Amino acid sequence: MPLREIVTLPEPILRRKAKPVTKFDRDLQSLIDDMIETMRDAPGVGLAAPQVNIGEQLIVVEYAEHEDEEEELEDEDAEGTPQKPKKLYVMINPEIVKASEEKVMGIEGCLSIPGLQGEVERHEKIQVKGLNRFGKPQKLKVEGWMARIFQHEIDHLNGVLFTDRATRVWKPREDEPIELE
Ligand code: NI
Repeated sequence: MPLREIVTLPEPILRRKAKPVTKFDRDLQSLIDDMIETMRDAPGVGLAAPQVNIGEQLIVVEYAEHEDEEEELEDEDAEGTPQKPKKLYVMINPEIVKASEEKVMGIEGCLSIPGLQGEVERHEKIQVKGLNRFGKPQKLKVEGWMARIFQHEIDHLNGVLFTDRATRVWKPREDEPIELE
């Protein structure tokens, strides 16, 4: 399972609409495995196929739901509450079918836009419909940071980057770590 090269701006594929996946063959399975490995190696919390130069509607997301509950966890940590485990999602031909009216601000970075981060408003909760790696329909309800990552990755499939939506974009300081998508 080789790592794939992550393309960065101004690579034109990042601005194109990705095509729906229609064949659930061996090549697709290899691509999915490579994308998971590439995301983990980066490291990042999400990756969309156009970021590895493939114009298809496929995203992978892996994140441990804890940062959106940071304050609560700080209290709970003292009592020894363990961190939640990471969850891995593979979503093909994803579509947001429901989105909360409530929106939240958060700071995003992107593996395809090195050296920039920005403040982006996203829906707090969404429902996503799509297919799993074997072509079986799946529907997910996600919220908080997980919802943010899904919205960021699905944007990639439409040629949209976080800098298009950001209210503010800046270069992070070195001591300002950020999760990349
Ligand atoms: Ni990104």
